[in-house]
Amino acid sequence: MHAWLCESLDGVGALQWRELPTPEPAAGEVRIRIRAASLNFPDLLIVEGKYQFKPTLPFVPGAEFSGHVDAVGAGVTHLKLGDAVAAMGSTGGFGTHACVDASRVLPLPPGFALEDGAAFAFTYGTSHHALIDRAQLQAGETVLVLGAGGGVGTAALQIAKAAGAKVIAATSSDEKCARCLQLGADATLNYSSGNVREALKALTAGKGPDVVYDPVGGDLAEPVFRSIAWRGRYLVVGFAQGSIPSLPLNLALLKGASIVGVFWGDFVKREPRASAAGINQLAQWYAEGKVKPVIDQRLPMSRLAEAYQRMGSRQVVGKLLLLNE
Ligand SMILES: NC(=O)c1ccc[n+]([C@@H]2O[C@H](COP(=O)([O-])OP(=O)(O)OC[C@H]3O[C@@H](n4cnc5c(N)ncnc54)[C@H](OP(=O)(O)O)[C@@H]3O)[C@@H](O)[C@H]2O)c1
Repeated sequence: MHAWLCESLDGVGALQWRELPTPEPAAGEVRIRIRAASLNFPDLLIVEGKYQFKPTLPFVPGAEFSGHVDAVGAGVTHLKLGDAVAAMGSTGGFGTHACVDASRVLPLPPGFALEDGAAFAFTYGTSHHALIDRAQLQAGETVLVLGAGGGVGTAALQIAKAAGAKVIAATSSDEKCARCLQLGADATLNYSSGNVREALKALTAGKGPDVVYDPVGGDLAEPVFRSIAWRGRYLVVGFAQGSIPSLPLNLALLKGASIVGVFWGDFVKREPRASAAGINQLAQWYAEGKVKPVIDQRLPMSRLAEAYQRMGSRQVVGKLLLLNE
C-alpha cells in the first residue's frame, strides 16, 4: 500500500508519499481499499499539531473516505468482503488502504454513490445534528449560514432547505454567494463588504435570523449575534477564521436567545442511537434528492498538497475529493 505519511508537524509540505506494509485488520477492524477521500478543515490543522486530537507520529491524515472492504477482522459481523462502505475516523484516509474500527464504517445503501460516501457523514452529520437536533429548527424559520460555501456550510444550506426553512447564505465573495443561490439559498449576504447588521435587517424585515449556523467564528460573531431574532439559537460550530470570539452575555438576555455548542464527534460517541437516527434521515433525504454533496473538484490522490492549498486559501465550494485509480 501507499499513503501520505506525516512524520513531523510541519504542515502539508512535509508529508511524504511512502510505500508501507499493507496492514492486516485486528479483531473488530476491517481493511478498506480506498476509492475516494475528502478533505475536511481538521485535516489542515492535524498535520500542524493544531487540532484538538493529536495522533502519535508518524500517522496518515485523512478523516473521511470510502471504498471497498478487502479484509475482515475477527468478530466483525455487519460488514463483508467487497462491501461498498464509508469510513470516518480521524486519520488513515489519504492512502490506498486503511484498517478501521468496524464501528466507524457504514455500508453504503443501494443507490448511494461511492464518491459521495467519502464526502457525506462528517459535514452532513455535523449540520444535521446542529440544525435539527441542537437548534430544533422549524419549517418557516430563517437560518443564517455563515461560511455557506464551505463543506459544513453547503451541507447546512441543503439540510435547512430540506427542513422547510428559509436560508440566508453568507460568504466572503460574490462568486460564492452566486453559487449558493444555485444551490438553493433564498438570499445571500457577502460579509466582506458592507454592513452585516443592516443587510440582515433588510433581509428579515427587521426581525433577524431565528438560527445562526457559525463555522467561521472571529469578528463576525458579535454583529451577527446582535442581529438574532427573539428566541434565536446561535450555533457554535467552528472557528475557521482562526480566532475564538467572545460575546457579551447581556445580548442573550435581551433576545431570550441561546448560544448552543455543537460537537458532532462527541455526539456520535455519547449518543450513538440519536446519531444513527440522524444519519438514517440524511440517507433518506439523499435517496429523495434533497441533499447531495457539492463536489468542488476531483483530484488524484497524488495532488494532496494542491487540495490543501485550495482549502487553506478559501477557494473551495463544497468538498474536495482525492481519488485513487
Ligand atoms: N463542531 C463540529 O462538530 C464540527 C464538525 C465539522 C467541522 N467543524 C468546523 O467547521 C469549520 C468549517 O469546516 P469545513 O470542513 O466546512 O471547512 P471549509 O470547507 O474550509 O469551510 C470553511 C469556511 O470558512 C470560511 N472562512 C473564513 N475565514 C477563513 C479562513 N481564515 N480560512 C479558511 N476558511 C475561512 C470560508 O468561507 P468564506 O471564504 O466564504 O468566508 C470557508 O468556506 C472548521 O472550523 C471545522 O473545524 C466543526
